[in-house]
Amino acid sequence: MPDYSPGLAGVPAAKSKISDIDGQKGILEYRGYRIEVLAEKSRFIETAYLLLFGKLPTASELRGFSTDLCAHRRIKYRITDLMKCLPEHGHPMDALQAAVAALGMFYPAKNVKDPEVQYHSAVRLIAKLPPIVAAHARMRHGDDPIPPRDDLDHAANFLYMLTGKPPEPMMAEILDVALILHAEHTMNASTFSGLVTASTLADAYTVVSSAIGTLLGPLHGGANEQVIDMLREIGAVANVRSYLEKKLAAKEKIMGFGHREYKVKDPRAVIVQKLAQKMFERYGRSPLYEIALETERVGTELLSSKGVHANVDFYSGIVYEKMGIEKDLFTPVFALARVVGWLAHWIEQLKDNHIFRPTEIYEGEHDQTYLPMDQRP
Ligand code: ACO
Repeated sequence: MPDYSPGLAGVPAAKSKISDIDGQKGILEYRGYRIEVLAEKSRFIETAYLLLFGKLPTASELRGFSTDLCAHRRIKYRITDLMKCLPEHGHPMDALQAAVAALGMFYPAKNVKDPEVQYHSAVRLIAKLPPIVAAHARMRHGDDPIPPRDDLDHAANFLYMLTGKPPEPMMAEILDVALILHAEHTMNASTFSGLVTASTLADAYTVVSSAIGTLLGPLHGGANEQVIDMLREIGAVANVRSYLEKKLAAKEKIMGFGHREYKVKDPRAVIVQKLAQKMFERYGRSPLYEIALETERVGTELLSSKGVHANVDFYSGIVYEKMGIEKDLFTPVFALARVVGWLAHWIEQLKDNHIFRPTEIYEGEHDQTYLPMDQRP
């Protein structure tokens, strides 16, 4: 019998030069650059260039990339019409997945190994995800989509298209850092899902729509929504310990805790926590933030012996909520960032493509006798 690892845990699915995790030391690097350095010194668009093309851009390369992204910020009215037809109570990730799949019909890009096709598909997807998410978020409340503003950067323009107001610079900066932190994370479930699709030589829009579907689940990108629900359910700092103890006794997971790779605190969670602190100091602390701090303290006390600590999703939800982003948009915001990682892996996969076709261990019957209906037990 071949070795079997449930969830493919520990089984390498690809060779990659894009990012690396040291889960024992809590280190994450994109193309060899520490995440802390990128969060402090880089901007999302520059980090996107680094992830996609393997090097930091020169000033003119960055200018060209930013200009191309800006030029693709508008979405076709038929994409907005498509989203208008969707039920307003449906999850925005489903709307995003549908719209991204539809993009592929407007921009056919079948020659996926052509570097020009790869560049333009990547630019379109990175540029168009924010207006899609913002347009859907507004239309489901009966509001018109807001056209993008070319003078605002990627994060600021997204918040503007969502709210109709240019954001406070600190809010836009914090979102930009959050996008950097979420842009890539080795062979996670959504990246793997995208790669399986990529390995069939499907186009980038199909690859990204597959990955979006996978990101939605509560054990992956959907956890940040559930953290907010959990903190609300806890309700007060005084209830934290009894709530967590009850959950653990019932063998339930604490949302925003634990990670397949990290056995210490997720380095991204450390940075998001600092962003949260900065934000709450500037705009006022909230009861939810106080509950989060206590939940992390008690949760770490109860779970650290198993190598389970806060992950990136633990604080990202409360940061987004403070920005005025609705709870069910947290995972779409994650997708706006992670699209870069999906595309970087897509480009890398196509350099030496092998279709993913794992095997399975069959545990069913053989040589069954087909009984007519009237003889079946
Ligand atoms: N709460 C309580 N206990 C936990 C948690 C948690 N969040 N995570 C892991 N554990 C415990 C498990 O119960 C298990 O205990 P046991 O050995 O006594 O049975 C032990 O720690 C090992 O956990 P596994 O489930 O084997 O860890 P795995 O690597 O399979 O799971 C996962 C990782 C899915 C992320 C898990 O930690 C989890 O469900 N967390 C909550 C959801 C979440 O926050 N997801 C976001 C992840 S980050 C991201 O996707 C961006």
